[in-house]
Amino acid sequence: MSKQFYITTPIYYVNSVPHVGHALTMLVCDVSKRYREMRGDTVTFLTGTDENGLKVMEAAVANGEDPHAFVARISQTFVDCWKGLNFEYDDFIRTTEPRHVKTVQHLFALLQSKGHIYQDKYVGWYDVGAETFVKESELVDGKSPDGNEVRWVEEENYFFRLSSFSDRLLEKIETDPTFLLPSGRRAEVISFIKQGLRDVCVSRANPGWGIPIPGDESKVVYVWFDALVNYLSATGWPDDGYTELWPADVHWMAKEIFTRFHATLWPAMLMAAELPLPKTVIAHGWFTFGESGDKMSKSKGNVILPLELRNSIAQESGCAPELAVDVVRFCLARFLPYEGDTNFNREEVNKHYNSDLANDLGNALNRSLSMAHKFVGGIVPTAAVEAEALTAMQHAKTSFEKAMELHKINEATEAALNLIRFLNKYIDTRAPWALAKSSDPSLEAVIRSMLEILRTAEGLFRPIMPATALQMAAQLNHRPLTTWEEVAAPASLTPGQEINPPQPLFPRLELVPQPAPKKTMATPPTTPPPAPAKPSLEKPTQIDFADFMKVDIRVARILEAEPIAGSEKLMKLQVSVGDERRQIVAGIQKKYSALDLIGRQIVVVYNLKPVKLMGQESQGMVLAADDADGLAILLQPDSEAPEGSLVH
Ligand code: MSP
Repeated sequence: MSKQFYITTPIYYVNSVPHVGHALTMLVCDVSKRYREMRGDTVTFLTGTDENGLKVMEAAVANGEDPHAFVARISQTFVDCWKGLNFEYDDFIRTTEPRHVKTVQHLFALLQSKGHIYQDKYVGWYDVGAETFVKESELVDGKSPDGNEVRWVEEENYFFRLSSFSDRLLEKIETDPTFLLPSGRRAEVISFIKQGLRDVCVSRANPGWGIPIPGDESKVVYVWFDALVNYLSATGWPDDGYTELWPADVHWMAKEIFTRFHATLWPAMLMAAELPLPKTVIAHGWFTFGESGDKMSKSKGNVILPLELRNSIAQESGCAPELAVDVVRFCLARFLPYEGDTNFNREEVNKHYNSDLANDLGNALNRSLSMAHKFVGGIVPTAAVEAEALTAMQHAKTSFEKAMELHKINEATEAALNLIRFLNKYIDTRAPWALAKSSDPSLEAVIRSMLEILRTAEGLFRPIMPATALQMAAQLNHRPLTTWEEVAAPASLTPGQEINPPQPLFPRLELVPQPAPKKTMATPPTTPPPAPAKPSLEKPTQIDFADFMKVDIRVARILEAEPIAGSEKLMKLQVSVGDERRQIVAGIQKKYSALDLIGRQIVVVYNLKPVKLMGQESQGMVLAADDADGLAILLQPDSEAPEGSLVH
């Protein structure tokens, strides 16, 4: 097998919930993966959770929970959150997994056998919050440079000879300009190394939690040595086949764990093991919160939770739940603090939702499709794209590619938006309505150009906002654009093919002044409350009471339930309605298991003509509402009702 493109996020501590800062690093990797896949690469995207630290164990104890159960539960909240944001990672590693423990112990023993690890006494401070050893001279008012409490430690420990790698590290960094990015942070690393690297303590007294040092159970591996190795554990090293992934192509993280850990300690550990170094190690800045410019972090309790944000966008704007996911993704991408930091807040989200998505993208889509219907009969015209439009499409594509090459997801997003802005200007200046009025022969070319620009925009937005891109393809009535060669092709649409009427994707948000930022305590996970489903925008047709009375609705009880083979949605239910037994097929499989259903009272339409669904007869219909994800929520009487009783 040939080498895959291998991209990683940091593994997140499981002492609290995932917030938009964590989601940011996920997003940059997810967009890179989707983009590379469109270009034909095979990509492995790794993420996971860091579970062996002292602070994780202490958080479990403080929570009165068994540490194993605690880490499993919180790790799952990351999995759930990433699923809710449509992040398609390929592997999720947990540092309590045997595959990781094995790799860490193997590497530790290897470095010991090569003389890179020695025993000595550690006497000094330890910052549990950041899981770092702190020099006396680094203390600020008795606290660590991160503002955390420090503890005095005197322990026999193991040390890694980091100091002996200074010259080799400097040489690598100075001769390979894309090894550490961005360049400003690379310069910080060079100056950090030039100040002199100290050997690093790589063990701690065994508190009953962590990875034991091979051959010395009295100690565990220092959590940072342990955590960094996750990137290698996921490749299967030292077993054959690890070179399919290793060396990593890109390690992404935020700046606080760049200089000391990913840009010095980790490459030195790899050099000591005589393993190739990652190709690029790159750090973005922080999402900050409020006017103080404080880093958004669980310990400060000032976090914005991504799924809450998604739900409130869906609720407040009325956009479809999967598009609300895309709004969060879009904002993460657009606000990516590549060099500095960005204040992430709801006002900015709302502002860009309205200006970029509801206005710019919404108008471009709506006007183009409406005019195609109004002026050329709702089909893709045969006329060729105008030169000006083709140049704009190709320019957008090249700008997007350049930005992605430099890992600047924010600039790639801007390139896609610029194409949309171009389209709106193009429509204004070419004025199809005027061309139609004067029967100008260029009308068809202008409409074709508008539609092809939308098609290119669909391709550019696809890695960032996959659900939106699918909607754009559906409105253009073409199969989704999936390969990069198709982007900015002069004829990506099929002439003569009908297109669909426009459907608004992002209804405008009514902007009301936001209350002062509220602090959200990052207490361990609770499931975010579901957003109300999108209200229907259409005014319902009124019916007479007599019409309503024709519908026979009754209380029933589910006796048996089983998923229908070959269907992801349908369940076959046997229900009793009074004395009668009936079979009803319902699209509730994604939300309910058979066990959830059996014995439950439900409400059914009793006098519907039977139909066949997936070959199964359905003798009625179960009543349900939709949740924010479009999944059915069953209606049920408030208290037990006599079976078969009429609902009115
Ligand atoms: N467990 C270590 C990493 C070990 S990697 C071998 C750790 N975990 S963490 O839970 O604190 O996550 C830190 C990472 O989360 C950052 O490097 C960044 O990727 C992301 N972010 C957390 N808060 C963030 C912001 N406020 N802003 C931007 N990124 C943020 O450190």
